[in-house]
Amino acid sequence: MHKDYIATRDTDAPEADFVEQFWTDNWKNSGGVEGRVTKYVSSFDRFALKSEWRIMRHFMTPQSHSRLLDGGCGTGEWCRYLDAQGYSTLGLDISRETIAKLQELFPDADFRAGDIRETGLEDASFDAMYSWGTFEHFEIGLQPCIGEAYRLLRPGGMLFITVPFDSIGLSLIKVFQRTPKKPARNRKRFYQWRLTRAELANELALGGFEVLKLKPIHRRQSIVRILHHGFGVDYNSRFARFTGLLLGLVLPRSFCGHMLMAVARKPENG
Ligand SMILES: C[S@@+](CC[C@H](N)C(=O)[O-])C[C@H]1O[C@@H](n2cnc3c(N)ncnc32)[C@H](O)[C@@H]1O
Repeated sequence: MHKDYIATRDTDAPEADFVEQFWTDNWKNSGGVEGRVTKYVSSFDRFALKSEWRIMRHFMTPQSHSRLLDGGCGTGEWCRYLDAQGYSTLGLDISRETIAKLQELFPDADFRAGDIRETGLEDASFDAMYSWGTFEHFEIGLQPCIGEAYRLLRPGGMLFITVPFDSIGLSLIKVFQRTPKKPARNRKRFYQWRLTRAELANELALGGFEVLKLKPIHRRQSIVRILHHGFGVDYNSRFARFTGLLLGLVLPRSFCGHMLMAVARKPENG
């Protein structure tokens, strides 16, 4: 498992406070909760094309898995989309400010502030849990999130997660990275774990899950990030978008997937 660090002045705050503040600021700086909600509500038809949904929908229906938990729901797009598909979703997020805004905007929906490592929710109270880009944010590792997911799911319940993928492309870049000899100029702290397929499968199996599928997704995003971080190319430039699109079509997922999606099941006798 590979650790990613982030440059920040906030190196002394306790980890949970740092994660909460980081994401609260992130949502504010990327359009604000209201702005993001307006944007995604008008483009729900595009959700049907998202890689996560194209994988998930083969494993559940509103009849077989009606009660869902979104672990780290951010600005709530997935909860709103899945509720519209006939599921009943609880959106949980550590960012209290984001959740307060969602509660104000959607008084009939179920959004709650909380930590997915220790939710205080009832045992076996969900048919499925999904969590995009959240299990990787604590330096202690993924087990506290996996353990809580196991407790919350009923036997036979499904777990869908994405975590940053330690792809072959990134491993190649690491070969050319310089070995630092001097102390780092910027203050940095742990940001996230990055995993290979085998590592994620191992974490899930350790937590008692049967692993049904592992698939790298978001190829285009990964190429745009490599261009940005490796070569200083602007994320939104035409060059980045065109190259991302083109290489995303030809390069294999194992080479350049950005996130790794896992589908796992709590055993019927679990
Ligand atoms: C990468 S964002 C993903 C947001 C959303 N799932 C999406 O796909 O747009 C990660 C989210 O997880 C939340 N988060 C991080 N750690 C958490 C934890 N321990 N418990 C609950 N939420 C957490 C963050 O506040 C943030 O909103």
